[in-house]
Amino acid sequence: MASRFLILCVSSLFFFFLTVSSAPTSGYYKGDKVFDVRNYGAHGDGKTDDAMAITKAWNDACQWSGGSSTVYIPLGTFYLSQITLSGPCKSYITFIITGTLSAPRDPNLIKQEEWIEFRYVDNLTVTGGGLLDGQGSYSWSLNDCDKNPKCRTLAINIGFAFVRYSRINGLRSINSKMGHFNLFSVEDFNITGVTITAPGDSPNTDGIKIGKSKDMHIYNVTIATGDDCIAILDGTTNLDISNVRCGPGHGISVGSLGRYKDEKNVEGLTVRNSVFNGTTDGLRIKTYAKSVSEISVSNFVYDNIQMVNVGNPIVIDQQYCPHGQCDSPGKYNSHVQIRNVKYNKIWGTSTSQAALNMQCSKTFPCQDVELSNINLMYNGRDGLATALCENVGGSVRGKIVPSGCRI
Ligand SMILES: *[C@@H]1O[C@H](CO)[C@@H](O)[C@H](O)[C@H]1NC(C)=O
Ligand SMILES: *[C@@H]1O[C@H](CO)[C@@H](O)[C@H](O)[C@H]1NC(C)=O
Ligand SMILES: *[C@@H]1O[C@H](CO)[C@@H](O)[C@H](O)[C@H]1NC(C)=O
Ligand SMILES: *[C@@H]1O[C@H](CO)[C@@H](O)[C@H](O)[C@H]1NC(C)=O
Repeated sequence: MASRFLILCVSSLFFFFLTVSSAPTSGYYKGDKVFDVRNYGAHGDGKTDDAMAITKAWNDACQWSGGSSTVYIPLGTFYLSQITLSGPCKSYITFIITGTLSAPRDPNLIKQEEWIEFRYVDNLTVTGGGLLDGQGSYSWSLNDCDKNPKCRTLAINIGFAFVRYSRINGLRSINSKMGHFNLFSVEDFNITGVTITAPGDSPNTDGIKIGKSKDMHIYNVTIATGDDCIAILDGTTNLDISNVRCGPGHGISVGSLGRYKDEKNVEGLTVRNSVFNGTTDGLRIKTYAKSVSEISVSNFVYDNIQMVNVGNPIVIDQQYCPHGQCDSPGKYNSHVQIRNVKYNKIWGTSTSQAALNMQCSKTFPCQDVELSNINLMYNGRDGLATALCENVGGSVRGKIVPSGCRI
């Protein structure tokens, strides 16, 4: 009895610290109220569907008006078929995952875009160091998107839509069926201390996908996956990325852009102090050759990036034309205007000879591209690294290896 009481005391003390330390800003929220999913019937046995229990805990926490609230998921494996957690909520809300959330193996059981969805919430913190297990290995073989443009989409692990003033701090995601994190129309949103893992050959398992969002910071994240580590889609503005370890994967990619007529500009991206290790691509901007929207991509800074055995360290591809849409190469010119992109201190090794490759649009040439302090070595045996640049305007400062770009 005494020892049980002690354990209870110690664990509630620990829990108290956990709750306080993960409050949305530094400082203690008077009236922070904890909604433990076990009190709503969650089993955490890895078999019973706990989606309903967690939804009920969320709904009570979200409607709590006595101060800030916390939904608490303890250690254990919580099987969830699918779940949507919606706001608006009455106050600051924290979602603590310490254990594992496990997805269905059968992809047909998830009938929404993301397995776990947060929508219309402000002042949300998701934290706790827990794990999202997408169980993707059971469905990757169903993915034929490389051959079939109308392929069926599988669920993304977790999505945030119309979420503002919020953050994810300390969370792990493995083996998503398709992407891991999807951010759509979020604002003032930070992602830190996140680790994303899927095999390098798992199809379309993007790490973090962002669209129509603004004022975001992503830092101290480790992403190893089968597609883009970070994919930046149209309508994204003011995105600051630093201290990313990416690889395997397809690098940090902007695009593909320009295909649909209602697309919005991409403006204000910085990527700093990051390492790409064994990725197919590094820093990539990609637009459709056959494009209908006249949007712009502008005000980018790439600074202090190490490349370790990267396929294509620096790429601008405005000739992107998958599934034979262009009849013949060079027939169409992208209408996306790329402007004011700075590359400074990009160094390391490339596994392809064209370590620097910028193919800009003939009708909308790239403007104000600035290269400084580039040092990329080709690690193959058949010669030195080369630079290929078409329709690029701008300037070059300091030492550039490989040289030879006509800018
Ligand atoms: C969210 O935080 C903002 C300030 O950052 C505040 O104005 C707003 O009232 C908060 N909303 C809720 C639901 O707590
Ligand atoms: C996101 O991070 C930036 C820079 O560290 C900070 O100024 C901002 O308040 C943070 N926003 C949230 C919602 O945590
Ligand atoms: C970075 O994130 C990891 C978790 O992935 C965490 O253990 C570490 O403390 C974080 N480092 C910093 C400097 O925030
Ligand atoms: C790159 O990855 C390899 C193999 O995974 C590892 O041994 C090496 O330390 C990594 N290099 C850097 C700079 O992270």
